[in-house]
Parts: sequence; structure tokens; C-alpha cells
Amino acid sequence: MKAAVLNEIPGRLEIQDVSIGTPGPREVLVRTVAAGLCHSDLHFMEGTYTTAVPAVLGHESAGVVEAVGSMVNYVEPGDHVITCLAAFCGHCEDCLGGHPARCQRKGADLVRNPDEDSRLTRGDEDLAQFLHCSSFAEKLLVHEHALVKIRKDMPLEKAALIGCGVTTGLGAVFRTARVDPGSDVVVIGCGGIGLSAIQGARIAGANRVIAVDMHSSKLELAQTLGATHVVNASDEDPVKAVKRITDGGARFTFEAVGLKATAEQAFKMLRVGGQATVIGLIPLGTMVEIHGVELTNEKTLTGSNMGSTQFRTDMPRYVDMYLDGRLKLDEMISGTLSLDQINEGFDNLKTGTVARQVIMFD
Ligand SMILES: NC(=O)c1ccc[n+]([C@@H]2O[C@H](COP(=O)([O-])OP(=O)(O)OC[C@H]3O[C@@H](n4cnc5c(N)ncnc54)[C@H](O)[C@@H]3O)[C@@H](O)[C@H]2O)c1
Ligand SMILES: [Zn+2]
Ligand SMILES: [Zn+2]
Repeated sequence: MKAAVLNEIPGRLEIQDVSIGTPGPREVLVRTVAAGLCHSDLHFMEGTYTTAVPAVLGHESAGVVEAVGSMVNYVEPGDHVITCLAAFCGHCEDCLGGHPARCQRKGADLVRNPDEDSRLTRGDEDLAQFLHCSSFAEKLLVHEHALVKIRKDMPLEKAALIGCGVTTGLGAVFRTARVDPGSDVVVIGCGGIGLSAIQGARIAGANRVIAVDMHSSKLELAQTLGATHVVNASDEDPVKAVKRITDGGARFTFEAVGLKATAEQAFKMLRVGGQATVIGLIPLGTMVEIHGVELTNEKTLTGSNMGSTQFRTDMPRYVDMYLDGRLKLDEMISGTLSLDQINEGFDNLKTGTVARQVIMFD
């Protein structure tokens, strides 16, 4: 099958011929229908984060089950599924405590043993599976705890977005921060993640929803998805602007870029008792600084991993929200690409001017 392989870090993706195994007892083979381009893939390609290579990249996808292992009874061939990197072991303290996205056992329990054949190979060489998914490939072979079954009337092109970006943005609002109706919310960065957080704030009944970005086209899109105010950070200091709009600071801020400067801005924009949630992946080794005295004002700085999702229950709900019109996904797709165009897609993503781009497999 064709797959986009990262052979070195930093590096670009190469479309290569790759082999995929048959399902082991707890595994599911999926025909990939659509896969979104997330900035996290780009962080690994650029080397701000690191992973085992060679690897098939991609982690935001939806498809149709082709075959299941002998012990799988959750899905059957023909079912429609979304994959998720927040795979869970199901028996650790975090999973049983209601926080499956925190599961630390997935690296041990959800992968194949070293003496077993690799799920992905290229000739005699083993390829690493990226974030339990490896979505930039015509097929996926994943542990059954790395996917969720969804309604068949959900278009899979839109469903793919729920695999990472949408769930991360909505979950940061609903689950990590638990935004309450009437509060003021700021979202810094209007890519796939930030636009989803903006929609989450709208759905949660926030009062003011202030979008911050460097591109006016992204701010216009943010307004169509729920932003009540916009701040162009290339024209004005976003901290001053937010304090002016909110008359002193916001109750909830979300950072969806992945930079020291924007994480610090998110904290500086808070009112007394406010909470800043950093979603963006800040380069490894980078420190984030805050003034200690601010903590006495009962301000919180925290982070969110995959929107603290319980994806087996969250994702089908988000599908319902799309199908009943509350969650807008069509507007978030800037364009569709073929697998061969993937590097162009990542070049577009680097400019900051596109929202989500989706690779369609046929
Ligand atoms: N925590 C998690 O679980 C998780 C999950 C998925 C993605 N992420 C991370 O979230 C971040 C956003 O991902 P994405 O796919 O939406 O990225 P994206 O590239 O699509 O969007 C980033 C947006 O930030 C804007 N931006 C850049 N610099 C800015 C600045 N200084 N001030 C304001 N806006 C600025 C860009 O114009 C762009 O619109 C990335 O760091 C990604 O790795 C984290
Ligand atoms: Zn992602
Ligand atoms: Zn676990």
C-alpha cells in the first residue's frame, strides 16, 4: 500500500510502498478514507519533537473496518470508525479513574511485543507506528482501543477531523477547563485546534469569545464559527486588547499555537481566579515563565492533552453535534488533497493561512 514515511528528523515525507500486517487478536484493520493534517505531525517533521523513524506519520483519520482479530467484538467489518491517539489500556489507575487520555500504559499494552512481526514494514525493515495510528496510509492496523465506532450517516471526510483537532479543542473547553455559561473565553491561534475551541466556547454558552491570530482570514473564519471579538496579533498587543475588551481580563484562555510567547500571553490575559490552558505543543526544552505573585491572585496555568478526552463517548457525541448542526466542520476544511500532495499540504500549514486540510484516499 502507499504511505507517507518520515525517514529522518528533520525531514519531509516520502510516498513509499509499505506492507501492513493482518490483525492480531485485539487488532483491527481499517481502510483509510480520510486523514487530516495536524500541526503536531509538522512538529515531528521539523524536529521540535522527536519520534522513532522511519515511521508512517499521521494521527487524525476515519475509515471503514476491513477485518478484526479473533478477540475483537466491539466492531465488525463494514463499521465506520474514527482512530484516536488517546488509546487507552482500560485497566490502569488513570483509565479506571475516568481519565483515559492520561493512560501511561499504552506504550506497553497496546503495541506488539518485540518478538512479534511489526504492524508496518518496508521490505525487510520494520517501520514505527506513529502515535498508535499512522494515518497517512491506505490502511491502518490499530489496537481496538485506538478507535471508536460511529454512525454510518456521518461523512468520513468530516469525521476525520474529530480524530484529533476537533476533539482536542472541544475537550479542552468542555473537559479540561469546564467552561461555564456566561464566562469570557480567549483562544489564541485559529488553526484546527483553536477554531474547535472557539466552537466549544460557543456551544458551552460563553459570553465573549475572543479569537487571536496573525491572519485576518483566520479571524474572519473564527467569527463564522463563534468568535464575538477578534484581535490581530500582528497589529496590536493581544494582552492589552483582551484586557480592554474584557475590562480587566478573561476567565478562561486557551493557547492553541505552541509557543512560549503565546503561552505567557494566555496567562497574562487572565482576570483574578482565571485559568489558562495550553494546548499547543511548546518545543521540547523551552521554559514558560510567569510572575509568581500572580499565583496569589488564584490564577491557574495548566495544559490539556487531547482535550482530556474520553474519546469512546466524546466522539460519537461530536458526530451528533455535527449532524444536528451545532458543530460546524464543513467550514473548517480549507481543502482536500491526494496523498501525493501531502508535503504541499504541510507547506500550506506552515504559512498559518489554512485551517484543516484533509487527504482523501480512494
Ligand atoms: N495538546 C494536544 O493534545 C494537542 C493536540 C493536537 C494539536 N496540538 C498542538 O496545537 C497547536 C495548534 O495545532 P493546529 O493544528 O491547530 O495548528 P495550525 O498551524 O493549524 O494553527 C496555528 C494557528 O496559530 C496562528 N499563530 C501563529 N503564531 C501566532 C501568534 N504568535 N499569535 C497568534 N496566533 C498565532 C497561526 O496563524 C495559525 O492560525 C500545535 O502546537 C499542535 O501541535 C496539541
Ligand atoms: Zn493532532
Ligand atoms: Zn490505562
